This record gives sequence, C-alpha cells and structure tokens, in this order.
Amino acid sequence: KTETPYHYTEKSDAETIIRPRDKFSHKGTFGHALLIAGSYGKMGAAVLSGKACLRSGVGLLTMHLPSCGNDIIQISIPEAMALTDSDAKFITELPDLETYSAIGIGPGIGQNIMTAKMLETLLETAKVSVILDADALNLLSQNRALYDKLPENTILTPHPKEFQRLAGDSINEYDRLEIGRDFALKYKVIICLKGANTAVILPNGDVHFNSTGNPGMATGGTGDVLTGIITSLLAQKYSPAEAAILGVYQHGSAGDRAAEKKGQSALIASDVVDYLGW
Ligand code: APR
Ligand code: MG
Repeated sequence: KTETPYHYTEKSDAETIIRPRDKFSHKGTFGHALLIAGSYGKMGAAVLSGKACLRSGVGLLTMHLPSCGNDIIQISIPEAMALTDSDAKFITELPDLETYSAIGIGPGIGQNIMTAKMLETLLETAKVSVILDADALNLLSQNRALYDKLPENTILTPHPKEFQRLAGDSINEYDRLEIGRDFALKYKVIICLKGANTAVILPNGDVHFNSTGNPGMATGGTGDVLTGIITSLLAQKYSPAEAAILGVYQHGSAGDRAAEKKGQSALIASDVVDYLGW
C-alpha cells in the first residue's frame, strides 16, 4: 500500500463513490441545493452552474439572484426556483438558509461590498456544506480575517490566479501544491486547485489528482459548471471529500465526451453541461 499522500482518481474510484438511485426514492431524497450566483452582465455564469447542478442529480434547486436575473433564469432553467435579491445588479442579501441541504456561492457574483458582507454572514451562519468559487474566493482573499470563519470541510475551487490571491505566490507547481496543502491543513478546508489534472486537496493533506478533462475545457464558464456539479453532490449528502473528488472527475469526463463529439476548439461550457451523465 502506498505511503504517499498522492492519489489518482480513475473511473473505478468514481464508481466506488457513486450511489445508485433507490427505486423508491423521491425528490426529497436528493436534497435541495441553494446556488448564489450572477450579477448584471454575468448571468450566464448562474445559468451554467444552475443547469450543471440539476444535471448532477439534485432533487430541487433554488437560485438566489440579483433581480435583473429573474426572467433569465426562469426562462433558461424552468426546473429551478428563483429567489430575487432587492438589488437589481448584485446579490446583497442572504436568504433564509433553513430549507437547503448545501450551498454554492460565487459564479458571476462580482465584487460588490454588499456581496462581501453577505458572504461573511453566510460563513457565520451556514449549518450545511458550502462551496466557494470565483468572486466568492476573490472576496474572501480581500478579507483574510474570514479564513478562520470558514466552516470545516468548506470546498474552495480556485483557478491558479484565484489561488494566488488566496494564499500568495508560489515559485512552481510543486510549491503551489505544498502551499495548498498547508492551507487545507491550517483552515481544515478542501481545495480543488483547478487546471489540467485538478488537485483535490483534503484537510488531512491528501491530494487526489484528477485523470479526466482536456484543454478544450480552457474556455469561459467551465469552472461555473464545476461549481454546480459539486453543489449538487453536496446537497445529495455525499461527503465534502467525495463531492469534490467525484465532481471534479465527472466534470472532466463530461468535457472529454463533449470534446470527442465536437472537437476541443469548438467545445464551450454549455457542452460540458450537455454531456454530464454516463
Ligand atoms: N485540461 C483540463 N481541464 C482544464 C484545462 C486543461 N488544459 N484548462 C481548464 N480546465 C478546467 C479546469 O480544471 C477548471 O475546472 O476548466 C475549468 C476552468 O475553470 P475556471 O478557470 O474557473 O474558468 P471559468 O470559471 O470558466 O472562467 C470564468 O470565472 O473564476 C472566474 O476568473 C474566472 O473570470 C473567470 C470566470
Ligand atoms: Mg472560474
């Protein structure tokens, strides 16, 4: 048995994590996700993450949006429920969290000061698993006092630039991985360091490198799709480590199927959503 902290996620690992749907299950069995996403001009990020969340098996999805996003979401994702903020362009208020089994925040939210305050309250009050992405990570890195308020096993999904803002400079990729392990150990969080072979770093320092995905996925919006997938798995009560490892794997394999059909250059984030599922 290997003594190193490094693991490589392959098909058999993903299949071990996946739970088949019970014949007698109903939508309550699969949780209710809350996605906090979008701002004026970036509602596409909300659409992509919302669709990916639904395509990943969640029972119900509610999306908290700036009010300008209401019609966009209701028309493009009829399966989602929309909760609109009083602000037209940004998310400024935290909805009542009672009914949700997991919370995803970040895709397209922008960096408004009111959104930063809402994020702080969310971290102080959330009782279910949370995933932070995109501008939620950028807002977090602007207020490092919040690091200690991150609930245990919170999932962070930074791309290299977002990770640099969170944790500082690194001299090479190995150094970045070690900084990621220190961060995960210190704050007891899960970090998905995104890129080719995304590294899922667990709070105990274990690293799970992903085997799926391709350079066709280097296109705007694919990260938002990942946020939706992981939020969905968390809402279904996969453990945060399982949700991160399985979600990253499924995202990459959907990207691989999409690239097979379309070619890497033509691949767009919506295609990754379309090819979710086995
Ligand atoms: N091989 C495999 N996977 C890749 C590759 C590659 N060469 N390049 C990118 N990916 C995957 C990453 O692993 C990640 O899951 O595509 C996704 C890209 O995610 P992001 O970098 O977050 O990009 P995205 O979110 O789509 O960008 C839109 O959101 O985070 C902000 O700053 C970001 O403004 C940008 C916006
Ligand atoms: Mg992103």
